[in-house]
Amino acid sequence: MNTDLEKRIYAAIANPQNVGEMENADSVGTVGSADCGDMLRMWVKFKEDAQGRKVIDRATFQTFGCETAIAVASVATELIAGKTVEEALSMSGADLSAPLGALPPMKIHCAQLVEGALRSALAPQSAAAPAAPATPQATTLFDQLHSGTASEKKVKVVLRPPAS
Ligand code: FES
Repeated sequence: MNTDLEKRIYAAIANPQNVGEMENADSVGTVGSADCGDMLRMWVKFKEDAQGRKVIDRATFQTFGCETAIAVASVATELIAGKTVEEALSMSGADLSAPLGALPPMKIHCAQLVEGALRSALAPQSAAAPAAPATPQATTLFDQLHSGTASEKKVKVVLRPPAS
């Protein structure tokens, strides 16, 4: 990655915005990345704006994801505030990560993870990535991983050795 992009990502993750589960969310979406196995969940709260349109009041996120995914989710949740569902759904991963600058090819899927979670929250049937529905008993990613059936709990985490 280029140095400017790294600086913007590190600045974003040093003070990430809108992190954490939202108690009174109107919608929630969760996706996992087929590219890296990371997960991201986004909560959305709506409000009515001065023109009577239903717009996004605020959005929050949690993720088992890389620094880029955290940085993109941070800036994306800021970007979508005040947008209608249609406006937010029209935004690509590149749009959502634009404040950070262009991502290198190997990091594009990190922005797509954020895009997928947003789509899952706003229009579950159109989510780009497979969505894991939230349950009332499992509202955090940690809870969800620990509340599945016996077969779902058979998750083995394999740490890859660092590339030499
Ligand atoms: Fe998995 Fe970035 S490497 S989201």
